[in-house]
Amino acid sequence: MTRVLSGIAPSGNFTLGNYLGALRHWVSFQDGHDAFYCVVDLHALTTEIDPADVRANTRDAALNLLAIGLDPERCTLFVQSQVPEHTRLTWLLECTATVGELRRMTQFKDKGRGQETVRVGLFTYPCLMAADILLYGAQAVPVGDDQRQHLELAREVAVRFNNRYGETFVVPDAAIPGTGARVMDLQHPERKMSKSSDSPMGTIRLLDTDEEITRKVKRAVTDTDGEMRYDRQAKPGLANLLDLLAAATGRTATEVAADYTRYGELKEDVAAALCQLLGPVRRRRAELEDDPAYVDAVLARGAARAHEVAAATYARAADAMGLLPGPEGA
Ligand code: TRP
Repeated sequence: MTRVLSGIAPSGNFTLGNYLGALRHWVSFQDGHDAFYCVVDLHALTTEIDPADVRANTRDAALNLLAIGLDPERCTLFVQSQVPEHTRLTWLLECTATVGELRRMTQFKDKGRGQETVRVGLFTYPCLMAADILLYGAQAVPVGDDQRQHLELAREVAVRFNNRYGETFVVPDAAIPGTGARVMDLQHPERKMSKSSDSPMGTIRLLDTDEEITRKVKRAVTDTDGEMRYDRQAKPGLANLLDLLAAATGRTATEVAADYTRYGELKEDVAAALCQLLGPVRRRRAELEDDPAYVDAVLARGAARAHEVAAATYARAADAMGLLPGPEGA
């Protein structure tokens, strides 16, 4: 079975963009794959965040992942910091990657731009992400478009390590085609729908009510020529609505466009489809909130299973680099 790993930062308020762009693929990869999914709380520390928010967001993320349909019987769901090998392997990979390589990362450049001070962790973030992936021997890594460069770095670091220290890591495949769909902001269709954005009307959150979803879709920005056709460049707002309906109904955007003449009708159907898609998630989430002990148990079991796999990989990597085994052989 193909080993799959992915991670999501616990930054609160998952959006429809997270769901359609990445998370629903996590759900489908549970079948026929050995899937590991982690809430990457350590990554959340790379920029300023209140400790209480880290804690609350980590739980919130785990609840959301269960609510969208991750099934602890069919995947390993865990919190990154609860498996200590993530930080341990990160150091070994920081001693494998180069400064030049990390400097080229566009996410680092974007997030660091204009900041008075930048945390070292923001710079070395891709090494932590590479550790996440390599610890589990993941072959497939479903990530959004914006993470392709980090995944490429993980591949390069794995190859370099293997060449220098002997075959140790599975080199993950490049990004999986089609899994990184981009959902755009409904008010600013030229930018991605993002959980950190300040565009509440443009952002549909995973747990929005039917009324909120409908209101946001109805107010979505389109264009004034009234012509129904799929054109991402010239008609980004309309294209986004067509993409949304296509993603929610399993068709292509061009097929969807052929069914409509008027924007208003399209919006009604987009809203209805999204309500149908997200309603069950919201209901499941409410059930889970009533059962915190269940969620704790899932995470504890997930961390134990992840640790078994991660510890074996870490021990091989540490040995390959010449470190002496620890007291328990680790
Ligand atoms: N950096 C990823 C993001 O911002 C999250 C992430 C961390 C991740 N570790 C990972 C994704 C490992 C895939 C595999 O979305």
